[in-house]
Amino acid sequence: MVALPTEAPGLRRSWRARVAADTSTQGVVRRILIPILVVSLVVGAGGAYYLLRYRALETATKTARLMLTTALAIRGYINDRVQVDLPQFTAEKFHQATVPSFAAQTVYRQVQTGFPAYSYREPALNPTSPSDRATPFEVELINRFRADPDLPEIRGVRDSEDGSVFYLAKPIKITQETCLQCHGAPQRAPPSMVAFYGRENGFNWRLNEVVGVQTMTVPVEHELRGAVELAAMIAGGLLLVFFVTYWALTSSLNIVLVRPLVALARAADSASRKAEQEIVVPPSGASEIRTLGEAIERLRVSLSKAMDQLGASRPADKG
Ligand code: HEC
Repeated sequence: MVALPTEAPGLRRSWRARVAADTSTQGVVRRILIPILVVSLVVGAGGAYYLLRYRALETATKTARLMLTTALAIRGYINDRVQVDLPQFTAEKFHQATVPSFAAQTVYRQVQTGFPAYSYREPALNPTSPSDRATPFEVELINRFRADPDLPEIRGVRDSEDGSVFYLAKPIKITQETCLQCHGAPQRAPPSMVAFYGRENGFNWRLNEVVGVQTMTVPVEHELRGAVELAAMIAGGLLLVFFVTYWALTSSLNIVLVRPLVALARAADSASRKAEQEIVVPPSGASEIRTLGEAIERLRVSLSKAMDQLGASRPADKG
């Protein structure tokens, strides 16, 4: 068997060994309280933060979904009710108001004037309108939808100039042939539209291609900050309870147990050296210590009586 190297005294001892060796009252109390504190910090503060954040994001998802459905409804309304009634393909002037994407985005731009962090966009990789050009973040979203045709939506939290916002993104896929009347080959598009937007951008889209995304953002800055603040408050409260409990336990243990025990030990020690010295039982302290003191005193008295009898009977033995 290989002998395990033993720790040489005086060498740097590990933290765990030092904690385990600390048998003082404070050390014992610390070893009991610290695991309780850590567990309650993780469960209490961590749990509260997780729950509040989860709730905030659930509410934001609901709101974003409702607003996205509204945007789709605006698109559908323009598609089904407005476009059919306007002979825009032959009109001299192109009517932007008859474009589903333009209608939905314009409505939400107005909503945004009152609620800045709520935004709706339809960015595309090859957009008809320069204002719909995808930002690097949106390009990443579109590419993820292009790479995975089964991905229904992407959601998350990101930073914006209005603080943290929750975003919900859904792919815009060309599923209808009618879209290609304006987004197919430029020569197929209404001349008035080409005159307005030019023939460079927003054309040559293909059927079943993911060309862009619908993104809806909802502010969550306030809710997320609230979750952090509440978690910090719970953590602060738990730390306060920890320190008060630690102080109360160590000082009461000192008064009730440690000091009386030290006094009793000293008294028992000096009584063991001088047989006639009486053991003074500490006046304060736990009742168990007083009982122990009295028991030791009785033991001392009966021991000294036995010694006396032994001393008295010894000369008779000799004679
Ligand atoms: C009447 C022509 C026309 C039709 C039909 C049409 N669009 Fe558009 N589309 C436009 C124009 C014009 C714009 C630019 C609007 C603006 O100025 O914001 C646009 C914008 C878009 C955008 C925003 C990105 C960009 O190119 O600026 C998307 C996405 C889009 N259309 C998808 C579709 C889909 C999907 C359909 C079929 C359901 C469709 N479009 C049908 C003309 C049309």
